[in-house]
Amino acid sequence: MIKINNILLSLAVMVLLMQNYGEALTYVNMVPYLNPTCSGESSGLGYSWVVGQCLGFKGNNFVVSLDSHNVSTIAIYQGKDEQCSGAQQGSRTFSNGGCYQVNYQNTEQWYYNGWVKIEVVEDPTNTIIYGYRETVYASTDDHCQDDYQMYFYYTNNSVFKYSNDNYYVFYCQPDTYTPFEIDCENGPTSCFTTPNNSPCGKNYNNWWRNYQVQSC
Ligand SMILES: *[C@@H]1O[C@H](CO)[C@@H](O)[C@H](O)[C@H]1NC(C)=O
Ligand SMILES: *[C@@H]1O[C@H](CO)[C@@H](O)[C@H](O)[C@H]1NC(C)=O
Repeated sequence: MIKINNILLSLAVMVLLMQNYGEALTYVNMVPYLNPTCSGESSGLGYSWVVGQCLGFKGNNFVVSLDSHNVSTIAIYQGKDEQCSGAQQGSRTFSNGGCYQVNYQNTEQWYYNGWVKIEVVEDPTNTIIYGYRETVYASTDDHCQDDYQMYFYYTNNSVFKYSNDNYYVFYCQPDTYTPFEIDCENGPTSCFTTPNNSPCGKNYNNWWRNYQVQSC
């Protein structure tokens, strides 16, 4: 009986310690490359996803899970399924360190073909500057100050082509850290440049339930 009590006490202490100090969060990063070996300079559209939360992103809900061998699964749920408790709409599995072809056609992302390298990271610091970044925070985090749930980004000067005459470029202006988008929808003479940043807020067109920030 004493032994069992000790074990229970140890477990209780562990749970307390985990609550106080166990804020470590794991993220699965998808780092973009232009070649099937994911080598050379990172370029294109990348992601970072927190593990183990049901998060809303552009009208759908996602859960990223990780097994004991660092194999991650990204599962998608319907937009109205805010607990991610209903049927999965689809899923994809990735091994840590692997290089995978991705195709975001028919998703709400910019059309983009490429490869991503999978990296499992603990408590990443959010200091990398990209050409453009959209960071998603919990639907209750109205100051976007807690750990982020996910972000996607374009590396500096990424070009996205729908066709030779219809393309978009993203870049970060370093002195102000403002992301800009160059839209060329009808050839090079049609291009216009707009700043593409916003503070913490909800975009009901695209995000409806989560807070987000647009930045570099
Ligand atoms: C999972 O990946 C992390 C980060 O690369 C590493 O520190 C950890 O040892 C890996 N765990 C296993 C079980 O491979
Ligand atoms: C992004 O690229 C532009 C050139 O198009 C360059 O002026 C700028 O310094 C780059 N931004 C960063 C943060 O490196």
